[in-house]
Amino acid sequence: MQVYNSLLEGNRLWVKETLDKNPDFFKNLVAQQTPEVLWIGCSDSRVPANEITRTQPGDIFVHRNIANMVVHSDMNLLSVLDYSVNILKVKHVIVCGHYGCGGVKAAMGNGQNGLVDNWLRHIKDVYRIYSHELEEIQDEQARFERFVELNVIEQVFNVSKTSIIQNNWKDRNYPIIHGWVYSLETGLIKDLNVSIQNQQDLPPIFRSIRASVV
Ligand code: CO
Repeated sequence: MQVYNSLLEGNRLWVKETLDKNPDFFKNLVAQQTPEVLWIGCSDSRVPANEITRTQPGDIFVHRNIANMVVHSDMNLLSVLDYSVNILKVKHVIVCGHYGCGGVKAAMGNGQNGLVDNWLRHIKDVYRIYSHELEEIQDEQARFERFVELNVIEQVFNVSKTSIIQNNWKDRNYPIIHGWVYSLETGLIKDLNVSIQNQQDLPPIFRSIRASVV
């Protein structure tokens, strides 16, 4: 019970410290949330979106799953994406992976891990797309790190392929979709500079055109 109780005690201390700094903190937040960023990150406990970006409650709308995947049939992800983009009108969608990701590592191997293997299959599909590039990398650690980066890049594409995003690009030129990788070793984020904000950045087959109302 020690850890469990420490969480509640931690919450009470956090409220006290927060109110000491700003007595209106909760009053201001309770009225509405206006985050400008949707974060799609890994569930890994070492990669908390707010802490590593020094942001506050209210700043980032967050979706996390194993290995920061964007799977087209994932209703959870699609609901978060639709709500944050169409209702909250976020301006940036950040897919943030991390080096040392256990999900990506497991997807590189052949061992069984239970139910999660069905989720990891999506990561293996990414490996297949980039297998030529990855298998040219002799050093296993370097290959692992590149795979983490390529997986993020592929998820940036997956976000961009949705009609949710493409309709917003047409209507308001936002959001911009970004790919980042966080280092567990240094705490630093690497911007992969693969931002997409335009249908022209996608292969024609993935450009989605809204039917015009007659
Ligand atoms: Co991870």
